[in-house]
Amino acid sequence: MKKDSRNSDFGFFTEPCWPRSCLDRVGPLLSKKDNHMSIVDVNTKLVGLLGNPLGHSFSPAMHNKAFQTLGLNFFYLPIEVVPENLKDVARGISKMNFAGYNVTVPHKIRIMEHIDHIHELATVIGAVNVVTIKDGRTTGYNTDGEGFVQSLETEARISIKGKRHLIVGCGGAARAIAMTMAFKGAGKILISNRTEQKAYDLAGEINDKVRPCCHVVGKDPKEMKSAFQQVDVVINTTSIGMHPDEDRLPMDTELLRKGQIVSDIVYNPAKTELLKRAEAKGCKIVTGIGMLVYQGAEGFRLWTGVAPPVEEMFAVVRAIK
Ligand code: ATR
Repeated sequence: MKKDSRNSDFGFFTEPCWPRSCLDRVGPLLSKKDNHMSIVDVNTKLVGLLGNPLGHSFSPAMHNKAFQTLGLNFFYLPIEVVPENLKDVARGISKMNFAGYNVTVPHKIRIMEHIDHIHELATVIGAVNVVTIKDGRTTGYNTDGEGFVQSLETEARISIKGKRHLIVGCGGAARAIAMTMAFKGAGKILISNRTEQKAYDLAGEINDKVRPCCHVVGKDPKEMKSAFQQVDVVINTTSIGMHPDEDRLPMDTELLRKGQIVSDIVYNPAKTELLKRAEAKGCKIVTGIGMLVYQGAEGFRLWTGVAPPVEEMFAVVRAIK
């Protein structure tokens, strides 16, 4: 897959939503010095967030801050949509001055029926969280797994390529992460899940559709111990440890090894009990905040065609939390 040559640090998806000539026109409308809420006018490119409910989303604040930081005349708008209206809203938005939109619960799968083209990674994941609109044509992407990979690679300073990873949990987030890691060249992916059959189903699907690199780890203590001994990275994708059940652990932390990288996609609290214990054992830890920011940053890049101001986006998410 071709890399975005305009920003070799972060690029993954290749097609910016807006050509440079268009950005040159909208960019100067807002000055970087403008520290107040931008004025929405007829030239403003809108970006939506389709989901229901949206009360707790940090995305509007994060993206609007990012647009403002770069002086782009874009505005991010939460739009609550019930499932029976999804088709009409998606169709209507594609005819308006929207650069695209994010899609969240409960529409990430059903939105695929209402867009023109789907990126190959989103097709294998089977869910879309970012849609771009260019000349009325919509394209769907999945940046959830990519957000995780960028967070891991940036914060732990590693490349996932050729490394061995243990993923605990097997829900939608695990699916996006495991598929993306396989797509991007992970050496080996081990999957462990409470309901073992789901792990076999996901591993089989990845091996068939992406690359034969996945194995299931059973609950037998010896098998589990051997898995922890062979992996470079351990990832919790379950909700265990999330507020208000902050004392709970998704795995036996005695099995962690010094020097291993341990990542938790739970971001509230940022430092979960798992990460506290991993840190105490001498592991390198990666919190869930990075995945949140980088999945958004990839959407930003696709809508605007410019490199996202990642530090400002982190600051917004940390302040909301
Ligand atoms: P999401 O789609 O947001 O990733 P999900 O579909 O609810 O979340 O998946 C959560 C994952 O965490 C599942 O793999 C689930 O295990 P099951 O497949 O057995 O349901 C796992 N999980 C959630 N709570 C758990 C718990 N208390 N103990 C073990 N696993 C748990």
